[in-house]
Amino acid sequence: MPSSTAKSAALSVAKLAAASRDIAIPRGHAELPVTRETFDQVMVPCFAPAPFIPVRGEGSRVWDQAGRMYIDFASGVAVTALGHAHPAMIRALEEQARKLWHVSNWFTNEPALRLAQRLVDATFAERVFFCNSGAEANEAALKLARRYAHDHFGPHKTRIVSTHNSFHGRTLFTVTAGGQAKYAMGFGPNPAGFTHLPYNDVAALQTEFAAHGDEICAVILEPMQGEGGMTPGTPDYLQAARRLCSEHNAFLVLDEIQSGMGRTGTLFSYMQKGVVPDIMTSAKGLGGGFPVGAMLTTGEIASAFSVGVHGTTYGGNPLACAVASVVFDVINTTEVLDGVKARHALFMEGLKAINARRRVFRDLRGEGVWLGCELDEPWRGRSMDVLKAAGDAGLIVLVAGPDVVRIAPSLVISLDEILEGLARLETALGRVLV
Ligand SMILES: Cc1ncc(COP(=O)(O)O)c(C=O)c1O
Repeated sequence: MPSSTAKSAALSVAKLAAASRDIAIPRGHAELPVTRETFDQVMVPCFAPAPFIPVRGEGSRVWDQAGRMYIDFASGVAVTALGHAHPAMIRALEEQARKLWHVSNWFTNEPALRLAQRLVDATFAERVFFCNSGAEANEAALKLARRYAHDHFGPHKTRIVSTHNSFHGRTLFTVTAGGQAKYAMGFGPNPAGFTHLPYNDVAALQTEFAAHGDEICAVILEPMQGEGGMTPGTPDYLQAARRLCSEHNAFLVLDEIQSGMGRTGTLFSYMQKGVVPDIMTSAKGLGGGFPVGAMLTTGEIASAFSVGVHGTTYGGNPLACAVASVVFDVINTTEVLDGVKARHALFMEGLKAINARRRVFRDLRGEGVWLGCELDEPWRGRSMDVLKAAGDAGLIVLVAGPDVVRIAPSLVISLDEILEGLARLETALGRVLV
């Protein structure tokens, strides 16, 4: 017979089990009134968000707290590649949410393996490392390049070549890799061993390799610089980087965090530039709005990350990978990728027409649905004014530095939304210089 102590312990356990699924959630949290002012009161002030708060989205339309509708030409900085509330993504998230949320890296899981298999099947890569953001993917890429060089060529081969105006993330390593001093200053001592060269400058790369080829373990490049001004990398330049890396046992790391996942009209941008990287990073559009990052590489290079050498708690999270697999399946179709090229033509036509009427842009450039509109005199330095005026006109756009208005909508934005957004952009431009 069980003792009375054992019986009461069993009863308590039963009560605990019942209660744990049934704990009363304090009421009111979901409805707690918050405004834009709340941001200034409770958030670290490293952002200056718009005066309105988006609360709902559908396709390329977003509504704010007051019910006002905005056309979304920004997609959360090139993230919501399939727009907001895509039904297939919702289905994938809901199905996975009922199965398994997190298991840690002591286990693998089906959604992560399925996403990795897709990425391996569709790219140069043979191995994938999942993480949560672009910066972490680049951090992993640069650590991997250094570790491989250390193990195979010795401790002197540590130099990483990057470019002026590049952007690779906000960890201390990636901010140092980036080519914008303002993001890296004041945090020192920063990691050593970086060289920054002008982008698209083949001669500068050749000179650097001639002088230090023995010490260089990696060159990290965006196929098109996004944050730094929307500057496409020329195929000649990227191919020269590829050749020099191969000649000097260095890795070509392509940061496809913004350019990848269909944004330029091919699954990844390298596929149309005539180069194949050794290591590639992806994030942003990969999860379509669910945070996920990935570093992709070959089996040989990946072997430098043996068990315990690198890691992350959330990398390969089942929810993230289930959503990303659906995003991948939708984007990696001729229909969507050709649609990106067709939308590029529509945007360019519309922007040129605006320019013919208003003479505001010095240059219109970009690839796929990733466009830079460089402001001409007397608009120079006023991209933020255009962004704010666009918000007032019911349009969300981005900037890429003080002189460039950046457009990076969903890859499947509708014709109506493009036309309506361009009309709102013209209204906004009309209000900036009055
Ligand atoms: C090219 C590039 N690399 C890296 C990053 C950093 O990504 P995350 O903000 O997810 O860390 C970004 C973000 O804008 C980016 O555009």
